[in-house]
Amino acid sequence: MCGIVGYIGHRSANEVLISGLRKLEYRGYDSAGVATIPLLDHPADRPIDRYLHRVRAKGKLIQLEEKLKADTAPQASIGIGHTRWATHGKPEEHNAHPHTNTMGNLAVVQNGIVENYHILRSELKQLGHIFVSETDTEVIPHMIAEFLTQLEKQGNMIPDKSPSVLFEAVRLTIAKLQGAYAIAVIHADYPDEIVVVRQQAPLVIGIGKDENFCASDTPALVAYTRTVISLENGEIARLTRESVQVYNSKGDRLRRAPQTLNWNPTMVEKQGFKHYMLKEIYEQPGVFRTGLAIYVSETNKVDLGLPTGFIEPIERVEIIACGTSWHASLVGKYLLEQLAGVPTSVQYASEYRYSPPPSLKNTLVIGVTQSGETADTLAALELAKSRGDRCLGITNRVESSIGRISDAVIDTQAGIEIGVAATKTFVAQLLMFYLLALEFGAAKGTLTEARSQELIEGLRQLPAYMERILEGQERYIEDLSRQFTHTKDFIFLGRGINFPIALEGALKLKEISYIHAEGYPAGEMKHGPIALLDEDVPVVAIATPGSVYEKVLSNSQEAKARDAKLIGVAPLDDPAAHEVFDYILPIPVVDEIFSPILTVIPLQLLSYHVAAHRGLDVDQPRNLAKSVTVE
Ligand code: F6R
Repeated sequence: MCGIVGYIGHRSANEVLISGLRKLEYRGYDSAGVATIPLLDHPADRPIDRYLHRVRAKGKLIQLEEKLKADTAPQASIGIGHTRWATHGKPEEHNAHPHTNTMGNLAVVQNGIVENYHILRSELKQLGHIFVSETDTEVIPHMIAEFLTQLEKQGNMIPDKSPSVLFEAVRLTIAKLQGAYAIAVIHADYPDEIVVVRQQAPLVIGIGKDENFCASDTPALVAYTRTVISLENGEIARLTRESVQVYNSKGDRLRRAPQTLNWNPTMVEKQGFKHYMLKEIYEQPGVFRTGLAIYVSETNKVDLGLPTGFIEPIERVEIIACGTSWHASLVGKYLLEQLAGVPTSVQYASEYRYSPPPSLKNTLVIGVTQSGETADTLAALELAKSRGDRCLGITNRVESSIGRISDAVIDTQAGIEIGVAATKTFVAQLLMFYLLALEFGAAKGTLTEARSQELIEGLRQLPAYMERILEGQERYIEDLSRQFTHTKDFIFLGRGINFPIALEGALKLKEISYIHAEGYPAGEMKHGPIALLDEDVPVVAIATPGSVYEKVLSNSQEAKARDAKLIGVAPLDDPAAHEVFDYILPIPVVDEIFSPILTVIPLQLLSYHVAAHRGLDVDQPRNLAKSVTVE
């Protein structure tokens, strides 16, 4: 949550910062701000020739951009910027970052939370520091300023290995901070450096020619450079125009080799689609094909690239995830148990941390996360690791923190996802679970060669079916969704392997359209939720041929008898389905085991179009962020 960006070089800092913040807005968008150190045209006219200039605005980035247009401050070539997802203090301008010290010559942006800010704040207040926001972040500039004063009193004597006084003050400050955070710091009296820190929140440095960058995530950098260094926890870096120096928390210099990102700026463009979400829905067949091409050989052998002997000793699997990734994990449990016979449990990461299951030998703990940075999932995985469990990460961001924590990581090959509502990353996670179940089945001998071949052939058919749904249904769903722009409640029903898809359909609708929606196992309706139904509560039922088809049709009939409007995600040409449903979102008939890959698509389109008809900001729904880096 929150995006931070920094620039030092020869370009207009504001331009680089705003362009970076645009790419980070998915991390939070309730306010934004920049701080720069402008170059004064006539320094002789002023008592000081450098000063800190800050512009902040409540609301989306566009509000800040408008303010900057009217801003008359001279150009700067060093600065830091921030887009906020409020944790401490309302989304108001005075709480927006960057935050400064009392003198206003030092600025800090933070992504994360300083947990012990209360005590630090009162200590600093007693020393005369004046606080003007309700944020946790504000303690950081004040504390750095405090250390700078102390160092100054000692004649700025700093350890030989320390590269600058500002660096040293930041290093002393972070030793006092508890929590998970990443920060960037600039100071008007030190106008040729940015000091950045990573402590359990992502921070990547971009290296250019006579210019350097930092950001919470790589999309903010790719327009300028693809040479990056991802800081590790506890590391501090000093960026000047000419160099990037990385240190550990003791101030020892570290040698870090830069990596080259293998993607380009167009991957984070809308490419003609009205919203990223719609573009990403349409990317799903391609993502699926890529996953198959990378992990399945022409002779239908699955190889997810796991280390030799990784799977064989495993007797049970625990999956930890949040939100949509948790729904994918429920499908994963179904596949691992039903196809490969591996006992599997799925837990919310935020629950696992405080009530982990008893520790058992030969357990594989899988963390599933599209961002690779979800604080709860990372902390749960760290806990599992500390208990001696083997840990596997499933993510589309292998360069993220989960890649570093896990013993092995599977790249879902979905690429970066910008729309806050997860779509293509969900489908890619599902594919990884199919392939993992196939690998487990082969390693444990629980799947015959013939069944494996049949399953892989089945998977290969799916992208064409996905395309058929996208091409054939979008217009229809767009029209249908007009009926629901004023609906207040929705129910989604599914059973078996499609129960998680009912949950996912409900989550998609509520998070982008703000319509209350619940997903239930269809058979559970009669145990309470059926009381909610009347003609104003539409029911979406996932009814695909297979072991529970007739049961779901019967459960749908029960809803119809309570006057609910019924939408079926069902085969087009089955008279039984036609009799029950008022509307059908048709699905090609496939083996039930594959149906989630298809049934989720009409639900994604339905929520997208309902939200779009309601005139909502589909890609940036209120109160949400793409990367949930706080607990
Ligand atoms: C829903 C959504 C969220 C995320 C959840 C976990 O569309 O995007 O529910 O699925 O915050 O995020 P990751 O997968 O990044 O761990």
